[in-house]
Amino acid sequence: MPRAYAPYSSFPVGAALLGKSGRTYTGVNVENASLGLSICAERNAVFAAVAAGERAFDAIAIATQADAPTPPCGACRQVLLEFAEDLPVHLAVSGGPIETHTLSELVPRPFRTFRS
Ligand code: THU
Repeated sequence: MPRAYAPYSSFPVGAALLGKSGRTYTGVNVENASLGLSICAERNAVFAAVAAGERAFDAIAIATQADAPTPPCGACRQVLLEFAEDLPVHLAVSGGPIETHTLSELVPRPFRTFRS
């Protein structure tokens, strides 16, 4: 989270994605002056993992400085779903308790094409 580049929103996000190999892939949100080009921490973590050859995951942890835990946005939920059916999603805020959900709880009726 401290490495997030979020000068426009002042909302830094950090994500750590645990691969089945035991390796962890991190991502931060990276914003751009052309705001629509900004990308979320979670998707950066997934893309880093896939680029490293890992496509199966055991958990993701997401950290923000918000007052309450912040689950991933819809776009990131959809991207996570591509590679993980029922991923534990751990939400952390500074100084607060960790809240845990499953991805299927966060995406109850997902869009899919090639999988049932
Ligand atoms: N953001 C994330 O990194 N992950 C999410 O799931 C939602 C939002 C980022 C995007 C933007 O840089 C900032 O948080 C405020 O929306």
